[in-house]
Amino acid sequence: MENLKHLAIIMDGNGRWAKEKGLTRVKGHEKGAEVVREITTYCASVGIEYLTLYAFSTENWKRPKAEVEFLMKLLDKYLERELTTYQKNNIRFETIGDLSRFSKALQKRIASTKEATKTNTALTQVLALNYGARDEITRAVVKLCASGETVSEAAIEKHLDTAGFPEVDMLVRTSGEVRISNFMLWQIAYAECFFTETLWPDFTPEELAKLIEEYGQRERRYGGL
Ligand code: FPP
Repeated sequence: MENLKHLAIIMDGNGRWAKEKGLTRVKGHEKGAEVVREITTYCASVGIEYLTLYAFSTENWKRPKAEVEFLMKLLDKYLERELTTYQKNNIRFETIGDLSRFSKALQKRIASTKEATKTNTALTQVLALNYGARDEITRAVVKLCASGETVSEAAIEKHLDTAGFPEVDMLVRTSGEVRISNFMLWQIAYAECFFTETLWPDFTPEELAKLIEEYGQRERRYGGL
């Protein structure tokens, strides 16, 4: 899609969705993972080049141990099960965030999924895993200082986890919360932001299509006139 190369989504509301239905929180995450697949294949089908999804933040470790463990298992199962979806739809899998805190087995699954899909050329799906924008920028600055290069915007960008990705054009957050929560602070500098009341497990390609239409009607000036 010519004017929408990179879409980023803060997937929020899994817990509330489950609670409303009298289910345990993890059922919300399970349904949320299905929505990840639907939204990803939709984005590939309409020619979006990059889709970044906030799957696990640097703050999410504070959740109860059982929920954290469930999310780790869900991610592992998702990557295993969806490999055929990545291949069938020509989707490349990538991540941003500090993977070193994950178990060796999960790191291996992540690496092998990247390896298996690295030559796919339609959409790149980027999962933000143990991701926080301040952490990302800090790690980038540490690498930049160690390299001895002169500090510039381009030099910082080169050391971010998103190096080589186009900047974010459109940001969506579900579930009615109107905040950024330490997500891609550098990359959303000129992004158009959309906040919907819909809880992530209820989010659909149809609703995304409507938001994309609205995006197309916004005038982007990047500080100019
Ligand atoms: C927010 O809901 C969602 C998360 C913390 C994680 C996102 C995870 C998924 C969508 C499912 C797994 C994803 C993959 C890629 C397998 P919340 O728990 O904060 O909801 P609440 O604010 O209503 O409690």
